[in-house]
Amino acid sequence: MENQIYPMPRIGDEAPEFTAITTQGNINFPSDYTGKWKILFSHPADFTPVCTSEFMTFASMQKDYDALNCQLVGLSIDGLFSHIAWLRTIKEKIEYKGMKDVEVTFPLIEDITMEVSKRYGMVQPGESSTKAVRAVFFIDPKNVIRTIIYYPLSIGRNFDEIKRVLIALQTSDNFGVALPADWRPGDDVIVPPAGSCGAAKSRMAGEEGITCYDWFFCTKRLSKEEVESKLG
Ligand code: BEZ
Repeated sequence: MENQIYPMPRIGDEAPEFTAITTQGNINFPSDYTGKWKILFSHPADFTPVCTSEFMTFASMQKDYDALNCQLVGLSIDGLFSHIAWLRTIKEKIEYKGMKDVEVTFPLIEDITMEVSKRYGMVQPGESSTKAVRAVFFIDPKNVIRTIIYYPLSIGRNFDEIKRVLIALQTSDNFGVALPADWRPGDDVIVPPAGSCGAAKSRMAGEEGITCYDWFFCTKRLSKEEVESKLG
């Protein structure tokens, strides 16, 4: 429906379903990728410089996302032939920061009707009513939205941060821990808070393997090897 107004998707919601034409054929999202992590991301327009730098960076990290059992899916409000021409240009002509001959093998959705971008809150009229903002949705293997990041048109995303968030989500799920500011694999992790006065007292008295900064703020070691052994 053309003028349908959708609520913004939220963390914890089921990922809205859609079918779409992409540069890798038609897809049913998210069901085609159930059992995998998904990163669904939008860019404002093909053949623009910030977007080109982003696509080259993301596509160059494809092997990392394969190893993390994560399917990348791009989207813009351009048509399929524009997408195909842009991806061919990227592969055949553009050399940027040591990246060249970059092949984008993940699907890129054509969304000329804006149906998908509106459903996912990617069109934000204060920024632009004709282009999607730079949205990033992290969707888990059960198709639940777990993290959402939005950037404006003028600022390219930090792709190390996007990978860090995916690794952090998988680690939080795998080990039942929370992760402190700027966490990277190998850094200490946050253990669930003490749930009773007795537990708080015993934490502060000192518990094997746990460091407490106060009764509600305790960490433990989780090695990089342990984290990496469970990723994917
Ligand atoms: C860019 O990708 O360069 C771009 C796209 C839309 C607005 C501003 C910049």
